[in-house]
Amino acid sequence: MSRAAVLCGLGGSLPERIVSNEELAEQLDTSDRWIRTRTGIGQRHVVAPGQSTSDLAVAAGAQALASARATAGRADHGVDPVDPVDLVVLATSTPDRPCPATAPDVAHRLGLGHVPSFDVSAVCTGFVYALATAASMITAGIAGRALVIGADTFSTILDPADRTTRAIFGDGAGAVVLRAGDSGEPGALLGFDLGSDGSGADLITVRAGGSRQRSVPGPAAEGEEFFTMDGRPVFTRAVLDMSRSSQSLLERVGWSAAEVDKVVAHQANIRILNAVGEQLGLEEKQIVANLDRVGNTVAASIPLALRDAVAGGELQPGHRVLLTGFGGGLTWGSAALVWPELETGRPHR
Ligand code: COA
Repeated sequence: MSRAAVLCGLGGSLPERIVSNEELAEQLDTSDRWIRTRTGIGQRHVVAPGQSTSDLAVAAGAQALASARATAGRADHGVDPVDPVDLVVLATSTPDRPCPATAPDVAHRLGLGHVPSFDVSAVCTGFVYALATAASMITAGIAGRALVIGADTFSTILDPADRTTRAIFGDGAGAVVLRAGDSGEPGALLGFDLGSDGSGADLITVRAGGSRQRSVPGPAAEGEEFFTMDGRPVFTRAVLDMSRSSQSLLERVGWSAAEVDKVVAHQANIRILNAVGEQLGLEEKQIVANLDRVGNTVAASIPLALRDAVAGGELQPGHRVLLTGFGGGLTWGSAALVWPELETGRPHR
């Protein structure tokens, strides 16, 4: 046994407003049928005017902290249930402001005191990167209990006229709490596989708003403030990189694909999930999917899928779980754990 980061709390938050495929079809040249058959998405949640990434992150974080307190109160982990969180890592590509990071504001609003807090930027892989960062700080002894949040509000950066991206992306936040424990416990993070390929930076991007555009006098070219994505190559790379990353982590952890109970992959497109399943030789029942209800929520995607799978009874204590993500950068990453007993309460949305 060695010191490890153990997952001990889970939460999530979605904005109230739901945009159905039918509503999109009233505004754009698209249809419920096209969106469902090409992506598997039926609806997405979007923020109200004035609502931001930190608002969703605070709500998800509060729920994960409550879940961790309730879980600690139920089981004796040898950890004081009121042990304070001493680290906040927020994965987001839609921070409240370009500067400073959003995590300190989230930590402050959650009443967590003067704890270290920072953002991680890896687009749809952000949650896995943030999880690896927080887990490493726990195993290194720098932190004892961490709140890890994935939150994004992509509706704020989409081109209102772009039917492809508006069909796919939704807003949301998901969060977990990690505590110091040992590698033999359920919930212990058993390993990570992370990677990036900057040669694909243009495939998923917002061109304006950074130093390259701002170092030139004058406003950005029209449309460059919006998020753009080259769907076809992104599709291919998502399948390839999530499959390769999953395979290499499974080898390291010593599990065969058949021994994995649930694969919780980034919820980008049901056809991507099925193709990853095919590459890994998985059966349909091993693949968790909630994108029909929430779309692609970027950094929130994996923790929200975990939350929904727990709430629906699909994910059970003792299950061998593989998390895998892919996103802009390009970036990808996977993590493995045995699902712990958790008190999560009922998701309110
Ligand atoms: N409604 C109707 N038609 C649409 C549409 C929509 N919402 N979005 C795109 N189309 C059109 C395209 O304009 C194209 O029309 P054309 O042939 O006249 O040019 C046609 O559908 C086919 O486009 P194509 O890109 O080949 O479709 P696809 O089957 O590859 O599906 C995506 C497009 C975007 C759904 C798919 O490529 C995808 O999911 N890519 C990955 C996206 C993703 O997951 N990104 C996040 C990764 S982190």
